[in-house]
Amino acid sequence: MKTFVSANKFVQIIILIVVGLVINRLLADLAIHLELPLYMDSVGTIVVAVIGGFSPGAIVGFLTNFIGGFADSSTFYYGTINVMIGVCAGIAARRGDFDKIYRLPKLLGMLMILSIPCSILSYFLFDFKIAENVVTPIATALHESGLPVLLSQILADFCTEIPDKSITILIAFALVRLTPRWFFKAFDSISGRMHEDRYQSKNEIHTLKAQVTTLLFVSSFALAVVATAVAYKTYSEAEIRETTLLAESVNRLVSDAIQSADSATLHEYIHNLEGKHPRILTITPGMHETGQWDVSIVCTEAPNPVCSKFSLAAIRISVMLFCTKIFSTLFGLLLAIVFTAILIANRRVVYPIHEMTEEMDHFAYDSSKGRRKSIKRIEGLEVVTGNEIENLHAAIIKATKEIDLYINKSEEQASSIAMLQMNIITVLGDMVEGRDETTGGHVKRTAAYAELIAMQLQKDGKDKDEIDDAFVATIAVAAPLHDIGKISVSDVILNKPGKLTDEEFERMKLHTVYGREMLLRASKNLGETTYLKMAKEIAYSHHEWWDGSRGYPEHSKGRDIPLSARIMAVADVFDALVSERPYKKAFSVDDALRIISEESGTHFDPEVVDAFLKNREAVEQIMKNKFEV
Ligand SMILES: [Fe+2]
Ligand SMILES: [Fe+2]
Repeated sequence: MKTFVSANKFVQIIILIVVGLVINRLLADLAIHLELPLYMDSVGTIVVAVIGGFSPGAIVGFLTNFIGGFADSSTFYYGTINVMIGVCAGIAARRGDFDKIYRLPKLLGMLMILSIPCSILSYFLFDFKIAENVVTPIATALHESGLPVLLSQILADFCTEIPDKSITILIAFALVRLTPRWFFKAFDSISGRMHEDRYQSKNEIHTLKAQVTTLLFVSSFALAVVATAVAYKTYSEAEIRETTLLAESVNRLVSDAIQSADSATLHEYIHNLEGKHPRILTITPGMHETGQWDVSIVCTEAPNPVCSKFSLAAIRISVMLFCTKIFSTLFGLLLAIVFTAILIANRRVVYPIHEMTEEMDHFAYDSSKGRRKSIKRIEGLEVVTGNEIENLHAAIIKATKEIDLYINKSEEQASSIAMLQMNIITVLGDMVEGRDETTGGHVKRTAAYAELIAMQLQKDGKDKDEIDDAFVATIAVAAPLHDIGKISVSDVILNKPGKLTDEEFERMKLHTVYGREMLLRASKNLGETTYLKMAKEIAYSHHEWWDGSRGYPEHSKGRDIPLSARIMAVADVFDALVSERPYKKAFSVDDALRIISEESGTHFDPEVVDAFLKNREAVEQIMKNKFEV
């Protein structure tokens, strides 16, 4: 099984084609042996088209008739029709019509349409008479009932094709179902299934492929038509010329006979000559005028005038029948060549390019592990085309390896810059808080609480529109700046040991406004970032109340307060409660959590409080670390 999957793709295709040919032959022979009025010669074609795509299907269709033609030459000329059966089955499989049994009638419909050109071909091949095959009895009966030959042929073919193709499709469906998955999978890249899945949104690739296929198909048809027309013209002219020469020599013979023979002998002699040369309609001594358009009269004057008549229409019809065979064979052969070329192009050009494009598509955005995997997959692609594609493959491997090294280096640098930035922010926050000598590791602890709450909300699926990994990461680095505005508040107020007067408190409240202004200035200089935006929201709104009753500076309420600030409010107040201040003792964790939970719905967002309360153990761990400076 593994050996088959890893075998050379061409060996796999050849095996598939041979299997298809054997199925076609066996079932067709079985139908003959059982004297069934069925052909049953395209089950293998359909199975191969479904498994390996329409190109191998078309090749099996052509080869079945080509090989069959050695035993019965009329089979040879139906190659084109069987190629088309392979193509139709391939298209049906690609559209998913072969996935469910109830979709099979669509393929049956396509094959029934094909039976019409097949009947017309039979009409030509059998000299405009009823074809001699399994439909002969039905077609003859229809013709005898008064229908024209062609119509009788079409109707009889239709009556036979419906059961024949229904049974064929059902057997093919069963065989495809019985085919092991690994066998099916080995042809994913050839049939186009792999690219279908990957490139659903990139219709242009399929459009281009469809355009090329249509162009080749139309070109083959045009080439076959032109070649047949040239053959018809050349051959019919040669035939007329040859028949004229024949008529002239016959005339000379008769002319000589007139001198030596009596009337009865002459009459018998002429009769014999007419029998020997069926092309010559009549041989008449004496001169005649030229008659109808489709009859040519050749006359010889000396020594005794003789005229022979032959039918131009008969010559043209016999040449046309010959040319039908040429057209049918040539078109079938061209199609088989086209589909072989498509198969090779898919294997050697389309498949490697698609694979490389797919891997390159997300390469730069992948994780380091993903990138390594992509490089391995690109290296593992079987690109042994010996041309520019192979060079491109080698170049892409080299480029991806270099890009990977470069991205790894950049990521390392970015992470050390981020670390540095984080340290600078924390130091900045500490400096601000440091002016208020009592606050200790407040900055780091509140950042840790805020991150903890955000993670819990994400876990609980709250505020899905807002909370994602980036939100959690940003709040951890934006929280340390929540009191940055205190830098503009006087040391006297900040470090006052007792309770603040109303006026002092009003001045203290302004740290929210100052904080936002400072960060606004930073945004102007550095450009707006998610980080600065969140830092502004936190600095400005971390003292707002959920019910809007006592918060500042805006008296915003509920969800008008940014989520980051609602989270910061709980983190900030909790840390203040459990910390000792000149004017108060530290509350116990129990008391602090009780106060926080009592103020849920008034001061704090209830969902944020719930998220905080769920993490008591982690909160105590953060407190234990203290982060004292
Ligand atoms: Fe504050
Ligand atoms: Fe604070």
